[in-house]
Amino acid sequence: SAAEKGGYDHFMLKEIAEQPRAVADTLLGRVGADGLLTLDEMRLSDQELRDINKIIVVACGTSYHAGLIAKYAIEHWAGIPCEVELASEFRYRDPILTRDTLVVVISQSGETMDTLMAVRHAREQRSRVLAICNVNGSTIPRESDAVLYTHAGPEVAVASTKAFLTQLVACYLVALYFAQVRGTKFGDEISQIIAELAETPSRIEEVLETMEPVRELARSLADERCVLFLGRHVGFPVALEGALKLKELAYMHAEGFAAGELKHGPIALIDEGLPVVVVVPSPLGQRVTHEKIVSNIQEIRARGAKTIVIAEEGDSTVEPYADALIRVPAVPTLLQPLVATVPLQVFACELATAKGHDVDQPRNLAKSVTVE
Ligand code: G6P
Repeated sequence: SAAEKGGYDHFMLKEIAEQPRAVADTLLGRVGADGLLTLDEMRLSDQELRDINKIIVVACGTSYHAGLIAKYAIEHWAGIPCEVELASEFRYRDPILTRDTLVVVISQSGETMDTLMAVRHAREQRSRVLAICNVNGSTIPRESDAVLYTHAGPEVAVASTKAFLTQLVACYLVALYFAQVRGTKFGDEISQIIAELAETPSRIEEVLETMEPVRELARSLADERCVLFLGRHVGFPVALEGALKLKELAYMHAEGFAAGELKHGPIALIDEGLPVVVVVPSPLGQRVTHEKIVSNIQEIRARGAKTIVIAEEGDSTVEPYADALIRVPAVPTLLQPLVATVPLQVFACELATAKGHDVDQPRNLAKSVTVE
């Protein structure tokens, strides 16, 4: 009903708007007065966490994209080798799992069959399993050794939005907690990042307030057949997520690529007028990849692409090469997905609406896939 949608036309719009709150709620109660993390509900002792020598993140769909971003955070902050794998692939090969492997499963619903099977497989091999989940008491956290709940609140729209951002927050918290317990980063560095995390709800709010040009752009592209997405570093999974959203909602051919792979294939796809969305890393935090992606933008534009550039506020180097420029607030590099994903959600939602599609219930898709 209209009331359930809180005055929005679609649940998806409501859930996009709820993201600042969802992110804040996921941080709530997890940061002590000393600025350090307390994740008591995780149910793994500090000693158990210190013994972990490998992390494997396993998930499906949008949750898998959160996992891809988690890898950057876990290896950077916690210094623990981390792999990320699709749940449907994980147990059909022979992953090396030991008592000192932590398998982190990410699932909004807690009911995805492939992810649940991955939990069972990992536990049979005596690995520890930590679930990052949005639904209290659902099957996956019940069968896991430990759980960290995201507090996104109920997500109704099939395409995941606020659950994704809160999964990112939970992944950052896990990485930082490991860093804290293992002493790989100093307390003040950890509390500084946590303070930056606490600022992200208002950064996301700022993004949401500036979305009208993005909606206009989306409407203008409603007749396109294909959109490409490029990114680097944590912007690469953001590009994958932008493409997934467009497939799910607008039924368009959309692909995300690592910008560094452009010359190994994707550049052959560039044609006159092809829209290409580029997620640009921070010029300060990611100086080298920033420079490289700016030349990628020039290369594809020279070949006729219509460049849609998502860049940090104040990054003027991209201006001459952007046919459309979407600004996001400056945040620490690893946190950029929290702001950069939002315009891509809005873009896909608006484009699908312009095409007349039901954004809450796209054809052929289910909110939770409980069959293999
Ligand atoms: C379905 C949903 C996606 C979701 C995926 C994984 O495909 O449509 O939005 O990302 O399942 O779901 P989970 O509940 O395990 O995160």
